[in-house]
Amino acid sequence: MQEKPMKGIVLAGGSGTRLHPLTLATSKQLLPVYDKPMIYYPLSTLMLAGIQDIMIISTPQDIPQFKRLLGDGSDWGVNFEYCVQPKPEGLTQAFVLGKDWLDGAPCALVLGDNLIFADHLSVLLQQAAQRQSGATVFAYQVRDPERYGVVSFDEEGKAQQIIEKPIDPPSNWAVTGLYFYDSKVTEYAKEVKLSPRGEYEITDLNKMYLDNQELRVERLGRGCAWLDAGMPDSLMQAGTFVQTIQSRQGMLVGSPEEVAFRRGFIDADQLRVLAKRVHKTELGRMLFELANDVHHKDSKQL
Ligand code: DAU
Repeated sequence: MQEKPMKGIVLAGGSGTRLHPLTLATSKQLLPVYDKPMIYYPLSTLMLAGIQDIMIISTPQDIPQFKRLLGDGSDWGVNFEYCVQPKPEGLTQAFVLGKDWLDGAPCALVLGDNLIFADHLSVLLQQAAQRQSGATVFAYQVRDPERYGVVSFDEEGKAQQIIEKPIDPPSNWAVTGLYFYDSKVTEYAKEVKLSPRGEYEITDLNKMYLDNQELRVERLGRGCAWLDAGMPDSLMQAGTFVQTIQSRQGMLVGSPEEVAFRRGFIDADQLRVLAKRVHKTELGRMLFELANDVHHKDSKQL
């Protein structure tokens, strides 16, 4: 049977308690990361993978703000669907809430506070999106693995075990908040049980794929930046990172407008309309430049 095209989910709920009081009156994923709302970054990641059908999951009170910011997606040549998560009961819930909308399609999940930036990222993402079966996750070396899902490898470099927030981490490889799953994901997600801390853990879903020898773990190397902007320091670091790259290299980080244009979801005229809306900003200037410059368009540097 022909596989359906991959869909994507951005999980942008939760209560953002680690950022209080910043998040008392607004969603964490709407806070600024330098010159863009946080959710632009994970959205760009999905679009870079070539995904055009995207569901945004958030809290009942925050969904209207996301709709106001992002609309139906047609400006960027994509389709946005919105879904309420009544309570933050875990990342795996995304596939239970999104089951009908997914309708048997494979799906990528990205956490709304995750920013990934790397050379050749688009190639890596498209390969993961095109894989017909199994799941792909990404691992990144961190100083504080106990805060994350941690994966360990055997001598041949094969993933051995995955543990959520281990007290005694078996490695310093954290699993990032970007996951690609085949069409079995909704069936597997149904089987995930509540963890002792009361959540449907993504790590338990990944373990099912691992136990069935269907989990591929791609290790991201030094030349790659993975940031989660969920705490005051990491939010600040993410903003500084984006500012540094953009002002030094003159290249945008996490711009869905740029990705939409380079992926061919929109044409140069449509990009000019988007640039005009933010014409008083540096972002607007860079988008205009992109729309008018054939050299930029040919560049593979996403
Ligand atoms: O960032 C990567 C890590 O994300 C992984 O290494 C871990 O395995 C994974 O469990 C997750 O850990 P976190 O502790 O960062 O998860 P957190 O509960 O903070 O949720 C991540 C984001 O997802 C957060 O921005 C809020 C949102 N969220 C979370 C939950 C539990 C929801 O939208 N709904 C939820 O039910």
